[in-house]
Amino acid sequence: MSSTIKKRLAATAVCVAWAFGAQAAETQLIVDADQPGPVIDRHVYGQFAEHLGSGIYGGMWVGPDSKIPNVRGWRKDVVAALKALKVPVVRWPGGCFADEYHWRDGIGPRDQRPVKLNTSWGGVPENNAVGTHEFFDLVEQIGSEAYVNGNLGTGSAREMAEWMEYMTAEGNSSLAQLRRKNGRDRPFRVNYFAIGNEAWGCGGQMRPEYYTDQFRQVAAFLKAPSNNRPVIIASGGTGLQTNWTEMLSNGVPGVDSISHHEYTLPTGDWERKGSAVGFPESEWIATLAHTLSIDEIIKRNSAVLDRNDPKKKIGFYFDEWGSWYDAEPGSNPSFLVQRNTLRDALLAALLFNVFLAHADRVKMSNVAQMVNVLQAMIQTRGDQLVLTPTYYAFALYTPFQDATSLPSRIENNPVYKVGSVEMPGLSATAARGKDGKLYIGLVNANATQAAELTVRVGTATPAAVHGRLLTALAMDAQNEFGKPAQVVPRAFEARAADGKLLLKIPPKSILVVAVET
Ligand code: AHR
Repeated sequence: MSSTIKKRLAATAVCVAWAFGAQAAETQLIVDADQPGPVIDRHVYGQFAEHLGSGIYGGMWVGPDSKIPNVRGWRKDVVAALKALKVPVVRWPGGCFADEYHWRDGIGPRDQRPVKLNTSWGGVPENNAVGTHEFFDLVEQIGSEAYVNGNLGTGSAREMAEWMEYMTAEGNSSLAQLRRKNGRDRPFRVNYFAIGNEAWGCGGQMRPEYYTDQFRQVAAFLKAPSNNRPVIIASGGTGLQTNWTEMLSNGVPGVDSISHHEYTLPTGDWERKGSAVGFPESEWIATLAHTLSIDEIIKRNSAVLDRNDPKKKIGFYFDEWGSWYDAEPGSNPSFLVQRNTLRDALLAALLFNVFLAHADRVKMSNVAQMVNVLQAMIQTRGDQLVLTPTYYAFALYTPFQDATSLPSRIENNPVYKVGSVEMPGLSATAARGKDGKLYIGLVNANATQAAELTVRVGTATPAAVHGRLLTALAMDAQNEFGKPAQVVPRAFEARAADGKLLLKIPPKSILVVAVET
């Protein structure tokens, strides 16, 4: 063989080796099942219902006289769907609305309650048909816990203290007797109570210093029986801010948790947020990449908390998150109506994976919002109901409620890139469920490319996985009224072969599986 041929063959061998090398760099998920981490608080899968558009009125509350089947005014179909989702907690009455809500307007005979204007959301009449008793009836029907958001903006320490007494007092105080007169003998169980909402914005345009002083004063008067003392939540910052967390975690009496908000807009521009449907792949990836960047928000705030609260007593609650698109054409823009597509489901699952990586601090999150508003679980039209793709993302992740997190990492994660935006193609989380099974949650963010992933538990190859997959043909696939649903989970199984458990994960999909070892 001539030396030229030898050189050519050697070069070819290098190329082939390189090509095999690229293939050989297989994408692996490695779960460390022997190193249990913190428990994943089930409240991470919490929800938020505000007096906003048809978020409550029509969407959930139809009144006891409605032809739409209901239990004491709450729609049966909606309650059943939320129950099936194991909703752990519902936040109410806002949002911005919380800081204009006066609880005394919402008690007593409904036909005698005052009609106010909902100045936060469209200036429409608010007849106060849903008040304290109705809200607690809802959470009791769903089987979830109650998160009541107090009014700091236009309220007072006295108003919040009296509301707390009305809800929780056991004895014969006038407020406890008023509650009984209004139909509730035993106290309501108030699990969480927040002092104001978005104090930096719609909640009063406050500076952290001013809010913190207000919080100290109100918290000093929020008294409840020791067996019914709620977790007290301070209203924190937004985005990458850490100054609210810094101030509120620095020895402020009464702070059990700090809330933080962040919404995802495809364009990042509040004037032109981007469409909920019919969007380009550049807006798909921008939405998902922004969602992943919430990890940095949590890291920065956790670093502050770890310094001020090393024993991790203070929770970091992400009590508003979700997609926010341009309003549905033809709808009242103040009602925040938007379509919900496969993209929203992936957004939710990616964020769950982020939250679970911070299970030591993120003890609650509340998607905005539960029904008909922003990234809703459920959409209604008259007596019709649709379960959105986001609903199914929540459904897939129910095994992670109160599970024990397990460290996991993806090696050789494929890069997903569109234009100048890039992100890891795969995202994963792992946990030991309360049923003892090992669960994995996976997202393939890539809109066009399937991914292949080898699963290892430590150095061992698991035997099989069984679970559910959520995907669809189009990025903006949705479930629409009167049409067969396009985005519903389907069964997924894979078995090990030749000492390898290889998962083929379709593009734009969520996969949650139990692992058989
Ligand atoms: O969820 C809609 C609104 O977004 C909430 O009322 C407010 O807190 C936030 O700005």
